[in-house]
Amino acid sequence: MATKTATSAPGHTNGQKREGLLEKFFLDQLKDIYYAEQQMLKALKEMKAASTTEELEDAFENHHMQTEKQIKRLDKVFQILKEKPEGKRCEAMDGLIKEAKTIINETKEGTMTRDAALIIAAQKVEHYEIATYGGLVQLALTLGKHRAAALLDKTLLEEEQTDHNLTYIAEAHINFEAEEEDEKTEKSMESSSASASSSYN
Ligand SMILES: [Fe+2]
Repeated sequence: MATKTATSAPGHTNGQKREGLLEKFFLDQLKDIYYAEQQMLKALKEMKAASTTEELEDAFENHHMQTEKQIKRLDKVFQILKEKPEGKRCEAMDGLIKEAKTIINETKEGTMTRDAALIIAAQKVEHYEIATYGGLVQLALTLGKHRAAALLDKTLLEEEQTDHNLTYIAEAHINFEAEEEDEKTEKSMESSSASASSSYN
């Protein structure tokens, strides 16, 4: 495939290996997800506390423990690459977490609607993580970093599993009960407005 700009060939120069652009980008993305996981670790505590059902609370608790393990796994990847583990601010993750916090503020405490909304917020984060880890695995393989690729792939599989679990929880009953909750609210609003109008007659 033709590239638009090919200014210099990465890789070996005068017999000396230098860090290529792709390798730098790979490291950059690693720092991005390192930051993202750490932010999510904090956010998950708030999301758990805001949950209505025990089921979602447990799911966020498990997710929290898993995220701790994933951060340790990233530490190992940095170690393999002989790089210092450090995060780089990820605006996408900041935005997704901000959205989760808005959801908490905008939905009523103790409702199933709160849980349905929290699940969607958590899944948006999962999808961001899946995209990043998926890309990182491919880049690691391209760069011949097979041990790093294997570790990143392990996390990728966990993120996919978490996403499926959240879908299962939503579909099993939360979304249905959130809709029932809506119907009950509508009915009580109808009956109270009916009794209000009858009292005027
Ligand atoms: Fe994660």
